[in-house]
Amino acid sequence: MNITSQVLREKFLGFFKERGHTVIASASLIPENDPSVLFTTAGMHPLIPYLLGQRHPAGRRLTDVQKCVRTGDIEEVGDDSHLTFFEMLGNWSLGDYFNHESIAWSYEFLTSKQYLGLDPDRLSVTVFAGDDDAPRDEDSAKVWERCGIPKERIFFLPKKNNWWIAGTTGPCGPDTEIFWDTGKPACSDHCDPSCDCGKYLEIWNNVFMQFNRQADGTYLPLEQKNVDTGMGLERTVCVLNGMKSVYDIDLFKGALDKIQELSGKKYGDDPKITRAMRIIADHVRTATFLIGDPVGVVPSNVDQGYVLRRLIRRAVRMANTLGMPKGSIAEIAKVYIDVYRDVYTELRDNAAKIADELNKEEERFSKTLVAGEKEFMKVISHIPGNVVPGGTAFKLYDTFGFPVEMTVELAAENGYTVDVEGFKQKFAEHQAKSHAGSEQRFKGGMAEGGGIETTHLHTATHLLQAALRRVLGDEVKQKGSNITPERLRFDFSFSRPMTAEEIAETERLVNEAIDRHLPVTCEEMPIEDARKTGAIGLFGDRYGEVVKVYTMGDFSKEICGGPHAANTGDLGHFVITKEQSSSAGVRRIKAELHK
Ligand code: ALA
Repeated sequence: MNITSQVLREKFLGFFKERGHTVIASASLIPENDPSVLFTTAGMHPLIPYLLGQRHPAGRRLTDVQKCVRTGDIEEVGDDSHLTFFEMLGNWSLGDYFNHESIAWSYEFLTSKQYLGLDPDRLSVTVFAGDDDAPRDEDSAKVWERCGIPKERIFFLPKKNNWWIAGTTGPCGPDTEIFWDTGKPACSDHCDPSCDCGKYLEIWNNVFMQFNRQADGTYLPLEQKNVDTGMGLERTVCVLNGMKSVYDIDLFKGALDKIQELSGKKYGDDPKITRAMRIIADHVRTATFLIGDPVGVVPSNVDQGYVLRRLIRRAVRMANTLGMPKGSIAEIAKVYIDVYRDVYTELRDNAAKIADELNKEEERFSKTLVAGEKEFMKVISHIPGNVVPGGTAFKLYDTFGFPVEMTVELAAENGYTVDVEGFKQKFAEHQAKSHAGSEQRFKGGMAEGGGIETTHLHTATHLLQAALRRVLGDEVKQKGSNITPERLRFDFSFSRPMTAEEIAETERLVNEAIDRHLPVTCEEMPIEDARKTGAIGLFGDRYGEVVKVYTMGDFSKEICGGPHAANTGDLGHFVITKEQSSSAGVRRIKAELHK
């Protein structure tokens, strides 16, 4: 089928309108009255008060296309499927219909010739397997069977796969997810939709919201049973057209053409050039929507502004590597303003501001970029080993305006890693000295939102490393770490995939350490003494330097800048959501804390 983004938007909204839903406009990308997240990350986000029981002026059945920004997987942008901005098609029942209608309509919309006409034989679904908090969702599975999905393509999966909540508290519930079989062969006999080998692509998620998760981790029943669904527009257009990558869809065509024109290079041949072009196409689109949003973000060193700055600077750097002239970023933004002119009119209303902010940020960055990269290359030619010291990363940040994530990326391109903990320490020292008190600024940069969730996940990262070393041996060494309020990501040296038993054992050891309520203590000492205590961590060659050693009972001892929870008992339940390859000899774990 040949279907454009606009046709999909219209078909989706039309389908639900015919079934009694009111079409509502997309809300801002910047959440109102919710300091816990930086961006609107799902269609349900602006509707939280109504899912909790407040009356919505447009009624109990709603449908929309919501602009969303998620930057948690920003490093993966450039592959076939990751994007930092996307549109989410959704339909809601606010205490009206429930799972039966929701599933039947999803099936009809996807497979009916009148709508998307997808081959039902290539659809698989997952449903909630049940646990102490909620029962096994046999009911939803039955509805799927009645629709025509055979038992062997209905998978029962646990909470980490089939439960949806925005953040850690609020409306939530079991979900059923719909996957498209891309046609790739199964990677093993155990391959199911939770596997990320590329066989199954999630296209729609229907959440049956019936609980309100409290800060203490308990689930209270909601006053009303709701349905919240989300279908990724870009992904679905990609599937419908039988394309390999989301970047092949209509929305990116103009931008990629422009990038080829400005760079004089070709998209699609050389993987490195293709990746750089995709990063530019993605980041400029997100930056355009952030600046052009009715609430409006401008580049800065805090919160949303920091993320925006990082996106623009990364795009500029990629544009430079492709030899694109000054002002290219704003030129590409113009293409997007045109692509979306009738769908998101705020972009054309703010066209002048978008161009101006992009050009100003490019100018600010360009002034120091060349000097900074030169400094970087000079420094790495002198350091022994392959770890860039935290102090160097801090100098690049302070003097040349390099977001630390960019230094990490530059380092990786040259076969180095960065002592990010050391960077944080330098940053904290600098803050203390300048009495700027802008802890907030740093947090805003390192992770969206920040605060208690990231601190707890940081502590969990130490427990995870200690557990991995017990299960897999001392070969395990930290290669990287990244934390957002929702999850931690931990890269470590290890030569093969972990087995299911090893993953379960690691999870168990971490939870045991949490359940033992171990106190977390911090001591400062010269690095040589730290080494003698058996603490693990990045030592570098900073002879004589005083470092902090964090000890968690008898379980973990690690050099780190902090901050951490006071007691492991504060963390909640630890769940590994993914174990995958990161690069040769390096594995990557993603994990969450459930309260
Ligand atoms: N809120 C659900 C999601 O974002 C539909 O996947």
